[in-house]
Amino acid sequence: MLNVDDIFVSYGQSEALHGISFEAARNETVAVMGRNGMGKTTLFKSLIGILPLKSGAVRVDGADVSRDESFQRVAKGIAYVPQGRQIFATLTVEENIRTGLENVRGKTVPDEIYALFPVLYEMRARKGGNLSGGQQQQLAIARALVSQPKVLLLDEPTEGIQPSIIKDIARALNEIRKLREITIVVSEQVLSFALDVADRLLVIEGGRFVHESTRSAADAATIREYLSV
Ligand SMILES: Nc1ncnc2c1ncn2[C@@H]1O[C@H](COP(=O)(O)OP(=O)(O)OP(=O)(O)O)[C@@H](O)[C@H]1O
Ligand SMILES: [Mg+2]
Repeated sequence: MLNVDDIFVSYGQSEALHGISFEAARNETVAVMGRNGMGKTTLFKSLIGILPLKSGAVRVDGADVSRDESFQRVAKGIAYVPQGRQIFATLTVEENIRTGLENVRGKTVPDEIYALFPVLYEMRARKGGNLSGGQQQQLAIARALVSQPKVLLLDEPTEGIQPSIIKDIARALNEIRKLREITIVVSEQVLSFALDVADRLLVIEGGRFVHESTRSAADAATIREYLSV
């Protein structure tokens, strides 16, 4: 469903991704693990089209989106939940979710979204800025989901979030996948969360993948070693 083929990405003269390749199938969740500054956000921004590729290709469901603008990629089935969530503080929860409906027919929030995140239903009239960090993360995921993506990208969804809400987010992601059989790519530094949601784990270091394993074969000690500073 998502095919990333040997992508290189630079900030000016400084190359940040040095030939990243991976695939993620329909109904598969892949976790990209890596310490601070290793290239996770750079990878996600290049997949959604915020950063241009220097070379390589990104395909979604067979369609090459490498040269598309972000909004075109969204229309072709990619949704992106940025690191730090970036919800609209002055809009209500309901209005925030509806901003994800711009390219979609029908402007009401599907019941399914509130069923996944009951707390958002309770708070639907509240301003986004008055939600806790964990609630804002759920809001950012809800906003991404209303575009009916085939591929959902989440950049460090557990960053700065308390353990009980991390569990809620893991549960919601597993539920979304069961309901819609979508592809999920999530970047993470929390191994327990990655093992809760992902079928496959990739480790990124210095803009390259240095390790890959399936969840069942994952060696927690080895992965922790990569994640420790
Ligand atoms: N706007 C930028 N200009 C120049 N270099 C950048 C820019 N953004 C990131 N970098 C560099 O690219 C590399 C990868 O950064 P990136 O933000 O992708 O890491 P990350 O894995 O997402 O880290 P974190 O876990 O802290 O979010 C780092 O060396 C970083 O300094
Ligand atoms: Mg990052």
